[in-house]
Amino acid sequence: MKSPDSLPPASPPPGEDPLRPHTYDGIQEYDKRLPNWWLLTFYATIVFWIGYWMYFQQSGLSTSDGAKIDRHLAQVEAQKLAANAAFDDASLWKMSRNAVFVDAGRATFNATCASCHHATLTGGIGPSLVDAVWVHGGQPTQMLKVVNEGVLTKGMPAWGPILGPKKVSEVLAFILSHHTPPADVALAAK
Ligand code: HEC
Repeated sequence: MKSPDSLPPASPPPGEDPLRPHTYDGIQEYDKRLPNWWLLTFYATIVFWIGYWMYFQQSGLSTSDGAKIDRHLAQVEAQKLAANAAFDDASLWKMSRNAVFVDAGRATFNATCASCHHATLTGGIGPSLVDAVWVHGGQPTQMLKVVNEGVLTKGMPAWGPILGPKKVSEVLAFILSHHTPPADVALAAK
């Protein structure tokens, strides 16, 4: 005698989907189509995934989370440094490793200093600010003094009264960002 499982499947009731061609323990199943809303959602997730992956992982157009955190930390550090208005060599070096100060300084430099020192800092009317030769000393505080007070006889204006201490320190951070701090300067953010 034949087992029920090998019986040919019965035909579906009228108006129903077709039945799959197998029977298990006497149970049959319909061959149902996935609904369109489900399929469309599924395909949409595939399209979304490709776009998302291209934008965030491949294109380089987005800012990574790590870079955003670095930026925020730099802002916190910038506020701390700005609050401590004493500009000594160590804090000026520290500012020069901080993107917030350096970016602000670059803007001021391009607007105010580049005409004489060139946008690449390589010099023109004024001397190069990227070489190791410093007429007035290469310590950050010595440079700060030159920028603040100028060298009027040589054609370097005094910027302190024009820009104010914040902008002068930013512009100095920008110049120092092109130089390597001496080994005894502790730059670790604390
Ligand atoms: C009108 C032209 C001019 C402009 C604008 C100018 N500088 Fe100068 N700068 C000079 C000259 C000229 C010297 C050389 C002074 C000397 O030889 O004593 C100089 C010297 C310097 C030095 C000292 C370099 C050294 O070797 O010791 C620094 C630092 C400096 N400038 C920064 C700046 C900054 C920052 C700005 C913008 C806020 C600026 N300068 C704008 C003309 C200029």
